[in-house]
Amino acid sequence: MPTSLKTYNTFGIDAQAADFIEISSQQQLQDLLSEDGPKDYFVLGGGSNMLLCAAIEQTVLHINNKGIREVSRTEDYITLEFQAGENWHDVVMYCVDNNYGGIENLALIPGKIGAAPIQNIGAYGVELKDVFVSCTAVEIATGNLKTFDLEDCQFGYRDSVFKNELKGAYIITSVSLKLSLDNHALSTSYGAINTELENLNLIPSVANIAQAVINIRSSKLPDPAQIGNSGSFFKNPVISRAAFEVFQSNNPDAPFYEVSETEVKVPAGWLIEHAGFKGKRFGDAGVHDRQALVLVNHGNATGQEIWSLAQRIQKEVLEKFGIALQAEVNLIGC
Ligand code: EPU
Repeated sequence: MPTSLKTYNTFGIDAQAADFIEISSQQQLQDLLSEDGPKDYFVLGGGSNMLLCAAIEQTVLHINNKGIREVSRTEDYITLEFQAGENWHDVVMYCVDNNYGGIENLALIPGKIGAAPIQNIGAYGVELKDVFVSCTAVEIATGNLKTFDLEDCQFGYRDSVFKNELKGAYIITSVSLKLSLDNHALSTSYGAINTELENLNLIPSVANIAQAVINIRSSKLPDPAQIGNSGSFFKNPVISRAAFEVFQSNNPDAPFYEVSETEVKVPAGWLIEHAGFKGKRFGDAGVHDRQALVLVNHGNATGQEIWSLAQRIQKEVLEKFGIALQAEVNLIGC
């Protein structure tokens, strides 16, 4: 059935899908794929990390299977399996409410858990890989089910095997996480969390860290329900130490993160702000006024309009700082 994807992508882009199928169980997906034979599908989860620049001619599969199951438990840890269509933030709050530790720093990240392994979601010093046990995925070509463990996924910074060798080959149907029941290894190393806990006069705990993260994110990042966006539009660029030394001598106040002996990460938000784009608006396409790394749709921007703005930012940041910005969101037909 032809369907508008406007409510299915957090950028709120009104792109049409030629055909749209709702998937509510892994079995339904396996049956569909094994019966259909090879066919080109467009897989849609929460639509929170994509920019739609064109209509989708393939059949859209909206992955919306739900469920939470306890896989195993020891004195210290519980392993839970979540179906791919579970909303990520609901998963975080389910764990926080039960005092299961490990993903409290990842509160309020938009999207569904099925997409979390694809880019190894991360925030405030924690990444999915830190709690990841395995995921199951259906091979698109055959409908066969396969389990991927931590090593199989080849997680990196906003990266995994599902963005590389296996791009477009599998649909993730469930994700298992190992969470602490006691002696939580709380991660408060990220400065803003400590400051927020102190402001709230709270001791570090699973629930209090989630609260701190929710406060920080809501103060800086726009809520997609209010204003369309896909979180960070660009990755933070990792540059060679030689390039960094040149950059730093010209910009001694710029923040940076050490990556390795040979590489340094520079915050894209700082570069974009200092190229003069923070809070700027071009028609309905804009740059968020409190976090320049986030591009926003003020209403009826098309994907192309957002992409034009993104390219203009890339060009000006390159001219001003000699650093190339790479999109973090998936560009569809751009
Ligand atoms: N900054 C500016 N101007 C801005 C934005 C940021 O100068 O407009 C500076 C900040 O002052 C700070 C530095 O840049 O010194 C880093 O900013 P921030 O702490 O806000 O984090 P980020 O590097 O911009 C990353 C993730 C976010 C994640 C936060 C917190 C990426 C691409 N983004 O952003 O992830 O929430 O850290 O951990 O790695 C997302 O992926 O969608 C996302 C929101």
